[in-house]
Amino acid sequence: MKLFLDSAKTDEIRHTIEMWGLDGLTTNPKHVQAAGKPFRQAIEEIAILFADTDKPVSVEVNPHLTDWKQMVEEGLALSQISSNFVIKIGASEGGFKAIRELSDQGVRCNATLIFSVAQAWHVARSGATFISPFLGWKEQHGDSAAMFIGEVRAMLDVFSYKAEIIAAAVRNASQIGEAAIAGAHCITAGISVYQESFSNPYTNMGEKIFQDAWDATPTE
Ligand code: E4P
Repeated sequence: MKLFLDSAKTDEIRHTIEMWGLDGLTTNPKHVQAAGKPFRQAIEEIAILFADTDKPVSVEVNPHLTDWKQMVEEGLALSQISSNFVIKIGASEGGFKAIRELSDQGVRCNATLIFSVAQAWHVARSGATFISPFLGWKEQHGDSAAMFIGEVRAMLDVFSYKAEIIAAAVRNASQIGEAAIAGAHCITAGISVYQESFSNPYTNMGEKIFQDAWDATPTE
């Protein structure tokens, strides 16, 4: 499962590229707002960090757009900024059409805000490169994140669609594990979710036991 960071903050991106060998990045309008920079400046700075790599960087079109032609126009303009850019478009009738048009023109798309297998199927047959089911939002409302990823993966496999699942809006280590087992191709989460997933209280307890044993053992 590929590890993507969900962020638009250059310090977080630099750190995770260096320390974790990041496989890609996802942004959204909230992340760009949190970066505290104008949209264009934020995405251009991000593009520089990924230049000379083939790692995908998802950048979302204006979420107000409902007309597919405008989504295509904006997606094409964004794709000119960096070859790493993958155009993120929300699930809707216009969104599916825009994804089909952009994909036909060789522009990779990430279908975002996916909450049902039906939506995932629409975007897969539209030619999306990535499909982003939002796990945390679903679980918050009582649905099983793991089951959802498994169902989307089963649908993709049955029809041999090439789209890859990005398990998104991931909130904790448990969801990371569930997404991996259920067959998500990629996962995206905020830096703190991954950092929390590195540790476990039993690991800390074990380290202490081994340190005590080490200290009580003569070296020579
Ligand atoms: C995914 O690509 C989204 O950017 C992301 O996971 C959104 O969810 P969140 O802001 O609720 O974490």
